[in-house]
Amino acid sequence: MGPPGAGKGTQGPRIRDEFCVCHIATGDMLREQIAQKTELGKEAKKIIAAGGLVNDDIMVGMIRDQLENNSNCKNGFVLDGFPRTIPQAEKLDAMLLERKEKLDSVVQLQIDDQLLISRITGRLVHKASGRTYHREFQPPKKPMIDDVTGEPLEQRDDDNVDTLRKRLTTFHQQTGPVVSYYKSKGLWHGIDAAQSPSVVWDNLSKVFRAPPNGKS
Ligand code: AP5
Repeated sequence: MGPPGAGKGTQGPRIRDEFCVCHIATGDMLREQIAQKTELGKEAKKIIAAGGLVNDDIMVGMIRDQLENNSNCKNGFVLDGFPRTIPQAEKLDAMLLERKEKLDSVVQLQIDDQLLISRITGRLVHKASGRTYHREFQPPKKPMIDDVTGEPLEQRDDDNVDTLRKRLTTFHQQTGPVVSYYKSKGLWHGIDAAQSPSVVWDNLSKVFRAPPNGKS
């Protein structure tokens, strides 16, 4: 978890690749619905543009579907952008209990709001793969071109200063309490996300390499 631009989408795929687990990114799933122009996509488009959150039950349903049907999740999963509210966290706990699974760790990427404006306004994405770049901090080899496919890069519709301010307010109000929820369960780890992506990765990967809950 972490505010918009903290680095969830940069680090999540690395966790997936390093630990052979699936990467479930709720923002990417919603953008896929928007691209397909589904009813959910049409509704989500308005909510995302306003910097709000999509209904908890819909989001929980999407996670349940992935855990039940995505064969890449057999070794485990990394959740990126979920849970974002206390009801989502409680429903996730109930779902995992039913499945006789549990969370090993909850990582919060911590960074001051003022550092996020340049990250968000400079972000470039390859829509098909979800790969992210940054004009200045992580530029593609050729300007505006994906390194892997050679396809054009784009900016997300919600990556502007006005929407970012609303997304940050939503994060602090609705996702802030989720931090205390996981601290009280002894699962929480804070990582300084203002460091370079490689330093963030070094610190993040240590959390997942350590035995769960400090047990050997
Ligand atoms: P989502 O897609 O999850 O957006 P977000 O939380 O706002 O996060 P971002 O994707 O903007 O940032 P990130 O942390 O992934 O940063 P990134 O790694 O790309 O959700 C979008 C919307 O969907 C929400 O607003 C909500 O409406 C809805 N939604 C999603 N989940 C929901 C849920 N569970 N419930 C209800 N609604 C939900 O990095 C950003 C940039 O910085 C990149 O350009 C990157 O290259 C650069 N960068 C990354 N790390 C570093 C670093 N260490 N140093 C320098 N630059 C860096």
